[in-house]
Amino acid sequence: MRPIRIALTKGRLEKRAVELFEAIGFDCAQLNAKGRRLILPMDDYEVVLAKAPDVLTYVGHGACDIGIVGKDTILESGGSFYEMLDLGFGKCRFALAGPAGEDFYSGCHERVVATKYPNVARRFFEQKGMDVKIIKIDGSVELAPLLGMAHAIVDIVETGSTLRENGLAVYEDIMPISARVIVNRPSMKLRREEIERLLKDMELAVQVN
Ligand code: PRP
Repeated sequence: MRPIRIALTKGRLEKRAVELFEAIGFDCAQLNAKGRRLILPMDDYEVVLAKAPDVLTYVGHGACDIGIVGKDTILESGGSFYEMLDLGFGKCRFALAGPAGEDFYSGCHERVVATKYPNVARRFFEQKGMDVKIIKIDGSVELAPLLGMAHAIVDIVETGSTLRENGLAVYEDIMPISARVIVNRPSMKLRREEIERLLKDMELAVQVN
């Protein structure tokens, strides 16, 4: 049988996840010297480095058994898997933001909102019963209001410095976000013992750290 595969979101969450694996006592030497390799052995496991939405896809399809990914991506893209654990790191929040000092809700003109998370934004405004035009942007979404293309953005805010340094401010918090552990549904049945042991290890390490 192949090793249990853990899909790990590259970038922000990666460092914290490797620290967590080290705290459990796994040998992360290969992960720490990965170079451009994408699949790294870690004790009896294989760690697969992927972009956040792809973590959902690999776990959803069973190419990986376990995934570590932000709740933001889960809320935006969904998929078929179990969400098992909140790792408590990668903490940030979804927020509605725009040019500082302006009132997004005043007036009755059509509002345009730019975001990397169109589904999250659509649901947020649907709950408010507001008809808003949503434009999908792929990165540095703060540019859209600065360039006069949108009245506001729905984005993740961590420290708030990107907003501040670009003259933008939070209008409204939408929801908190953190890193989650997801598990492929068939894997949870077929390799239950191994997966539960790993989840337990992660849960304990999170409590201690
Ligand atoms: C995210 C987010 C904000 C920034 C928030 O972007 O979209 O731009 O981080 O962090 P802060 O509140 O600590 O400033 P990311 O760095 O992931 O890059 P991207 O916009 O190019 O996707």
